[in-house]
Amino acid sequence: MNTPNGKRRLVVGNWKMNPHDGTSAAKIFAGIKTIAKKIESVDVAVCPPFPFLARFSNSHGEVALGSQTVSHEISGSFTGEVSAAMVASLGATMTIVGHSERRALGETSQLVSQKVARALEQNLTVVLCIGEKERDHNGEYLEFIKNQLKESLAGVQKKHLAQIVIAYEPIWAIGKSFGTAMPGTDVMQTAIYIRKLLTDSFGKEPAKRVRILYGGSVAPINAEDIIAHGAVDGFLVGRQSLEAASFGEIISIVAKY
Ligand code: PGA
Repeated sequence: MNTPNGKRRLVVGNWKMNPHDGTSAAKIFAGIKTIAKKIESVDVAVCPPFPFLARFSNSHGEVALGSQTVSHEISGSFTGEVSAAMVASLGATMTIVGHSERRALGETSQLVSQKVARALEQNLTVVLCIGEKERDHNGEYLEFIKNQLKESLAGVQKKHLAQIVIAYEPIWAIGKSFGTAMPGTDVMQTAIYIRKLLTDSFGKEPAKRVRILYGGSVAPINAEDIIAHGAVDGFLVGRQSLEAASFGEIISIVAKY
């Protein structure tokens, strides 16, 4: 089902540095494709490691492909980097940018904003990750989110907003036990806050077009609460996107709302 604003809901799988080999990757991907084919009402994307992205390039069917990052540079002497143009040339239509695990390796919001620019130049949809390390009672985490969002989107214009997806991923909720995920009503407060920040910067209508996802230990047991009460348009899923059946269950739950 579409969101109240007419956007299609979106579930993105972030495989991180998994699985070990191409055979296992192909098996998981085939499972996800079979499920995605049956659930037409939700956009489904998988962001595998670069070698598997190339492998799935011509056979991804209904499942959109994305990378987990792109270089902040266009091309040239940048050993180990992969450009947005290369990613797009493989048929990928999306990239995650600014994931907390990359920020932990030293990516600043300034660098993230350059990556956003490179991705937009290639018409990739950007899944921009933001999220606080911890929650405090003084609301300082809200200021943190505000700055991270503003700095990461520096240079983005209104016309680009249809290509921007915000993944709210509180760092303290990533990689944790599925039973203790963030309650939907708490997700809602932050999602509304992010929407308000986007409205302040870009205006009401453009801000409405942005899909906001929640990420952090999403699993079938908590997905329903978060999609029903969280005011989000879908999920960014880590571990459970490597289990085709669980990922499928999450997509089916999203399809109900
Ligand atoms: P998780 O990872 O679902 O395994 O917590 C989410 C993420 O880091 O994107």
